[in-house]
Amino acid sequence: MNAQQIRQAYLDFYKKNGHKVIPRALLVPQNDPTTLFTGSGMQPLIPYLLGEEHPEGVRLVDSQTCLRAQDIAEVGDNRHTTFFEMMGNWSLGDYFKAEQLPWIFEFLTGVVGLDPKKLYVTCFIGDESNGIPRDTQAAEIWERLFAEKGIEALKADVGSEEDGYKRGMKPGERIFFYDADKNWWCRAGKIKDMPVGEPGGGDSEIFYEFDFVEHNTEYGEHCHPNCDCGRFIEIANSVFMEYVRTEAGFEKLPKQNVDFGGGLERIAMAAIDSPDAFKISLLWPIIEKLEALSGKKYDSHTNAMRVVADHLRAAAFLAVDGVKPSNKEQGYVMRRLMRRAIRFAFDLGIEQNFVQEVVPVITSLYENDFPEVDAKRGEVIEVLTREEKVFRQTLRKGIHEMSKMGKDGLTGEEVFKLYDTYGFPLELSVEEAFKQDIKVAENWREQFEALMAEQRERSQTASKGVFKGGLGGQTLQHKKYHTATHLMYQALRDVLGDHVVQNGSNITEERLRFDFSHPEKVTPEQLKRVEDIVNEQIGKDLKVSWAEYPTAEATGPLGALGQFGDRYGETVKVYKMIADGAEKPFSFEICGGPHVDHTLQLFEGGKRFKIIKEEASSAGIRRIKAVLA
Ligand code: ALA
Repeated sequence: MNAQQIRQAYLDFYKKNGHKVIPRALLVPQNDPTTLFTGSGMQPLIPYLLGEEHPEGVRLVDSQTCLRAQDIAEVGDNRHTTFFEMMGNWSLGDYFKAEQLPWIFEFLTGVVGLDPKKLYVTCFIGDESNGIPRDTQAAEIWERLFAEKGIEALKADVGSEEDGYKRGMKPGERIFFYDADKNWWCRAGKIKDMPVGEPGGGDSEIFYEFDFVEHNTEYGEHCHPNCDCGRFIEIANSVFMEYVRTEAGFEKLPKQNVDFGGGLERIAMAAIDSPDAFKISLLWPIIEKLEALSGKKYDSHTNAMRVVADHLRAAAFLAVDGVKPSNKEQGYVMRRLMRRAIRFAFDLGIEQNFVQEVVPVITSLYENDFPEVDAKRGEVIEVLTREEKVFRQTLRKGIHEMSKMGKDGLTGEEVFKLYDTYGFPLELSVEEAFKQDIKVAENWREQFEALMAEQRERSQTASKGVFKGGLGGQTLQHKKYHTATHLMYQALRDVLGDHVVQNGSNITEERLRFDFSHPEKVTPEQLKRVEDIVNEQIGKDLKVSWAEYPTAEATGPLGALGQFGDRYGETVKVYKMIADGAEKPFSFEICGGPHVDHTLQLFEGGKRFKIIKEEASSAGIRRIKAVLA
């Protein structure tokens, strides 16, 4: 099976087992300030794992597009990509281990056709200090499943990753117990970093063995499933999400959930028994295009081709989801991806515009399975080719700048400035200096590397901050701003007209931010009217509640507001804000929540709703920031 077929077969398999197929969430999380990108399948489902009812029921399945920008520097090896798909299935308090493990084993061996002899599994060894027991049940299920395939699977206690390198694997061992650093899953990564209110649980992972890859002792003395040498690759993770962090330690969640994530690309690698992710059907056609454009071979230009293919695929999907290259947040990551792709294309000898040649290959790989890719193809090509032009102009500026800098020879600091400010490729700087007959300081590389290391540290610190600071961030303050956003959306339509449609929203503890369609600047008078309406409605102490409706009814006769580009399942959750005794709600909007119960909560502490900024966000889209102050 190729990757596209595996995705379809997975959705079909779980549908057959009572799951509702839900659409992927956008790469940019809505109303979730904790991370820049959707980085795992469960992220959009957090409220439901914590106990809210999901309109589609208790068994869900999807294939979630994910982006992990922190992996950007690792792209180039055989298995890291920034963009990937995580196939997910969820039990929201419904089935548990006894169904989950047999299903995924059947899918991998029976449907995809993986050889069970090449599969190894891990289970949670338990965590005494937190009172969480060892997962003997999962191990017993695995023992039975392998036995049914005629394989005697022996169990082994490993402990930590370090212990794994020391003890290795004994013949016949197939079920390995590891500690919480390896077999506990939560968004914070480690169990000790979990903030209060965060859900997590022990997990059971499945590894595929590329038995022809020799263990590399640089990673550790002996190989074991969690070794990073490349012989084993994790392809699937069943998280038994049944705990929540409390002030005192851990408590059981009201319901036992399953959060399963399986890397589509990785399962596709196993299906073709290739340790090289770029050989799968969702990446190889891009590589072939690069071979054709450059006249170079993948075997001799592996690294550069991998970077270009990965980065353009990620940038294309960001464009599908409405991101535009910029100097901030998601737009900045998109710009970096584009620039790195263009820079690495120089290594392939591609110095002319080439993005318009590659992007159609990428969209053709996805357009049959993701209708939005088909619908946005033209726009995606336009956004990416425009950015390519902008970057090439920047490069020209850099060349000019260099000729000014270079009078007394080029220092490492200047090479860094060219790199950092003008996005000037390092190799190009040296080459260009040579062309312009400019001397380069002898220690330029040391200086450059030192500045790079400093920058890396700065950006790592920044991204850690984003995660820690906001994680578990469904605080009362978030809820208040979320409710204020609904009120403002309706008020904007009342004042400006029904052409106003939400285009994006982002909420932090400090403010709300709202993007919407409107062709011109909103005047100060109009802003004042919007502010007054919102404050008036808050003052009426509207009651906030939600109900579920068939999607066609909600968006049709009931006229619920939604957001541009959102795709809904069969039913949707709609939030209603209505004054006591009123006939019609003031606000009626499709939304996952959460919100406050009564709008007067927004005035607590004598606060009032205030718009602090109105500006253009992109062509035809305005952006408003507002606070409760
Ligand atoms: N949420 C789990 C993961 O990302 C399934 O591995």
